[in-house]
Amino acid sequence: MGLLIMNKMIQAVVLGLFTASFAHAEPSSQVAWTPDKLNFIKQANSNNGKELAAQCAGCHGDNGVSPSPDFPSLAGQLATYTYKQLQDYKNGQRIHTLMTSIATGLSDQDMADMAAWYNSLPLPKNKAGKKDLEVAERLVSEGDGKRTLPPCYTCHGSDGEGERMDIPALAGQQAEYFAATLMAYKKGERHNDIYSRMRVISQQLSDAEIQELAQYYQQLR
Ligand code: HEC
Ligand code: HEC
Repeated sequence: MGLLIMNKMIQAVVLGLFTASFAHAEPSSQVAWTPDKLNFIKQANSNNGKELAAQCAGCHGDNGVSPSPDFPSLAGQLATYTYKQLQDYKNGQRIHTLMTSIATGLSDQDMADMAAWYNSLPLPKNKAGKKDLEVAERLVSEGDGKRTLPPCYTCHGSDGEGERMDIPALAGQQAEYFAATLMAYKKGERHNDIYSRMRVISQQLSDAEIQELAQYYQQLR
């Protein structure tokens, strides 16, 4: 075997290894918060978004308040967060058969316009009564130092209203969707959280705590 061919073979093997390890370290999102991107979302046309969102109303509600416990409400959500999720579905970083195929048909402008419209609507209000949920209350306001669990409010806001860019509002969210998506982070099935923030947190929560946190946020408003 010629030296040249041998070298080429070694090169191919090394390259293959690199490609494999790069595939493993795939980024959790392709959205990067540059000033241009933030301005693009800020300048979106929410009237156009309202028209486009007619196709989403069957599942996400006429005013972004979902009629089904399994479908997330989108009303009042940060536009940047909604935009990022739609991009993540389209780019394959967040996987859900239905939402992936819907997002694939949307342009960047469509996504920004609908995100702006949903953001302009009030957060969903809870119609069921309030229960005392002490375990969840403590996790939200104090966290748990023994498990290096930061309090949820430090990121999601003291009223669950969300915080800048990719940290979503949680107040009034459908409890069943909320618990299901936390379980998906916990199992690593949802992995579009930059720096693994929600994967690390959810892995330290018991399934019962996740259920209670879901109730807590649903009844917050
Ligand atoms: C047939 C029902 C259906 C339709 C139609 C639909 N969605 Fe969804 N959507 C879902 C479900 C179910 C989920 C939760 C998927 C998951 O767990 O990842 C979801 C999730 C989302 C999320 C992520 C929410 C979050 O809190 O992370 C966004 C954003 C979204 N949809 C936007 C849209 C937009 C915009 C449209 C219309 C262009 C649309 N959806 C149409 C069912 C639907
Ligand atoms: C260090 C900041 C941080 C802390 C602390 C934090 N979160 Fe999050 N959370 C995030 C980010 C960022 C996302 C969005 C990631 C993405 O794009 O998927 C998120 C997403 C979520 C979602 C998904 C929302 C949706 O609409 O799909 C839920 C539910 C959630 N967090 C619950 C919690 C709970 C409950 C706690 C406390 C136990 C908590 N988070 C603590 C940063 C944080």
